[in-house]
Amino acid sequence: MKIVSRIKLPIEKEMELFEKKFTASMSSNVSLLNRITHYVVNRKGKQMRPMFVFLIAKMTNNGEVNERTYRGASVIELIHTATLVHDDVVDDSNRRRGFFSINALWKNKIAVLVGDYLLSKGLLLSIDNDDFDLLKIISVAVREMSEGELLQIEKARKLDITEEIYFEIIRQKTATLIAACCAMGARSVMAPDDEVEKMRKFGELIGTAFQIKDDLFDYGSEHIGKPTGIDIKEQKMTLPLIHALNNSTSEEKKWIINSIKNHNRDKQRVKEVISFVKENGGLNYAVTKMKEYQQEALQLIETYPASPYKESLELMVNYVIDRKK
Ligand code: IPE
Ligand code: IPE
Ligand code: MG
Ligand code: MG
Repeated sequence: MKIVSRIKLPIEKEMELFEKKFTASMSSNVSLLNRITHYVVNRKGKQMRPMFVFLIAKMTNNGEVNERTYRGASVIELIHTATLVHDDVVDDSNRRRGFFSINALWKNKIAVLVGDYLLSKGLLLSIDNDDFDLLKIISVAVREMSEGELLQIEKARKLDITEEIYFEIIRQKTATLIAACCAMGARSVMAPDDEVEKMRKFGELIGTAFQIKDDLFDYGSEHIGKPTGIDIKEQKMTLPLIHALNNSTSEEKKWIINSIKNHNRDKQRVKEVISFVKENGGLNYAVTKMKEYQQEALQLIETYPASPYKESLELMVNYVIDRKK
């Protein structure tokens, strides 16, 4: 059986119902908007965030979920989708989930507004149901994601990113949302505060590993449903490059920074930078770091008694770093 199907086994029923609720949560009376949201739900992603919500809710509550859990999963996926729609505008990227991005088909103006719509629908789903505890968790994540994206742009302009700042960027732009999923899963079933916090931390660790993996994809040439090799073009320096830079001579450093600053549209030059990163152990280093986060995450759930949910969560943690897209 495929790994994703195995992970989903103990939450099959929930994921099926979730999809219906998620689709319904986007509906609008504006037909242009409905066309676009249909396009979005027909090209669904891996849905890892809702899976985390349900698995954690079940693991912490003897296999039981409730309506709050479903709403939490929908809110998270709505907000995740909104940020992807905006991210493709910000990154000037024309592909997502194996097809054209919203900005590629409908242009930036519309993509910005659709992203805002999805964001507001997510927040309202919590507000209209008085899920204020969940709303707080998600709102913190939304704020941090915006800060992370802006910090990334600031660093891309100045090209003065350090490993420490890299980890701060990915914590904010990616890990906080996965942390929010895990915290919300626990909170939705009224887990005690210390357990909610533990699950938040678990999500943060696995979310960090998740973004390192995403940044590694950019150095590859596999088909992952979105462009690869665009980070350098956008002057985005990620862990493999940062590490290679830290281990190079001042002459090499100058050449790399100059390449990224002044020749980032020159395909041949970008290829040379990528080769340099590979030869200087950048990818290996990033893989090592990613596995450290993975292990730390696994340790946090070690003490839970064996259950199908825990088993799936462990598989999920491994899937984050072994996935092919
Ligand atoms: C992509 O997230 C954005 C990042 C945080 C790297 P996913 O890889 O979970 O996207 P989908 O939902 O499966 O398309
Ligand atoms: C992740 O950023 C998306 C957000 C956290 C908003 P990236 O720009 O690195 O993600 P992909 O590779 O386009 O999915
Ligand atoms: Mg981006
Ligand atoms: Mg992007």
